Amino acid sequence: MDTAESSPYLFADIIAQSSIMQAIFKTITKIADYKTTVLITGESGTGKELIAKAIHYSSSRRDMPMVDVNCGGIPETLLESELFGHAKGAFTDAYKIRKGLFEEADKGTLFLDEMGELPLALQVKLLRALQEEEIRPLGDSKSVKVDVRIVAATARNLADMVNKRLFREDLFYRINVLTIVVPPLRDRREDIPLLIEHFIKKFNKRLRLKITGVSEDCMHRLIHHSWPGNVRELENVIERSMVLSEGNELTTEFLPGELADRQSSQTDELLFWDTLSIKINSKKLEKQLIVKALIKTKGNKTRAAALLELSLPALLYKIKEYDVNYEELS
Ligand SMILES: Nc1ncnc2c1ncn2[C@@H]1O[C@H](COP(=O)(O)OP(=O)(O)OP(=O)(O)O)[C@@H](O)[C@H]1O
Ligand SMILES: [Mg+2]
Repeated sequence: MDTAESSPYLFADIIAQSSIMQAIFKTITKIADYKTTVLITGESGTGKELIAKAIHYSSSRRDMPMVDVNCGGIPETLLESELFGHAKGAFTDAYKIRKGLFEEADKGTLFLDEMGELPLALQVKLLRALQEEEIRPLGDSKSVKVDVRIVAATARNLADMVNKRLFREDLFYRINVLTIVVPPLRDRREDIPLLIEHFIKKFNKRLRLKITGVSEDCMHRLIHHSWPGNVRELENVIERSMVLSEGNELTTEFLPGELADRQSSQTDELLFWDTLSIKINSKKLEKQLIVKALIKTKGNKTRAAALLELSLPALLYKIKEYDVNYEELS
């Protein structure tokens, strides 16, 4: 596996140069060897699963299994026997003994993905297993000791779920010991060019393509997009553009709808970029609306003022104040 030695921007398959992600790399190294439970939170597609893997493979448990459980993907009754196993005859279809995932992960790591989806009834049983470090298979009278490191991930706000009584408070405190908060991609845009380069290399190899880079305009839009689907969305956009592209360079022509729309990416660029200040962002928004109106009216200030529902003198004043230069825009 690649480690931080090969490049400072690559840690266990995670590409990042932003200081916030570099700090996460450091945290992973620091905590990897302790058995302490780690909770990874972050929006969908931010790389939570990659981080969980990095923790396991950086730890001394790396030669033992890492077992993944998707707490949201399996019906409650099945999930219980998946996690804890069952004895022969525990229920109608239990023809033979089945080892649970806790036992499979013995001496290794159990990755509880989508932890927020875990049904309440199972939360009690999980808490007991974590506290006592032993599990009892369904229909079995004996408990089994297990040595498992738990890494949990969720895109949901567990504290909020605790308040709404959808998640048990005691379990929340038990798993919320070391928390890694993975920031959304829009909060670490400096990682975007690096990720693009990485995905281009990946898909060149996989799809036998020869894409060499990204046009300036296209890069600009990719950097300033808001990326609600985070790195996963970026990866899909790059793959799609590479497949559709006709030259060696990716251009805006083959970006999906929203990204291909110049206005939306400009708005996103100007708004909410550095600050949440309403005062500053309102000014940015005003300027952006004026620019849009001028583009739409091909520089006709009287018509632009009408669209903006401003008087002409007010528009002229604002054009001066915000230093809007229509010649530059067209
Ligand atoms: N920093 C990164 N470097 C390289 N690839 C990344 C990075 N972050 C995410 N990815 C890639 O993006 C995709 C989504 O990542 P991952 O599955 O880890 O996200 P997630 O947070 O678990 O998402 P979800 O909440 O939807 O399960 C994967 O294909 C992963 O390889
Ligand atoms: Mg995931």
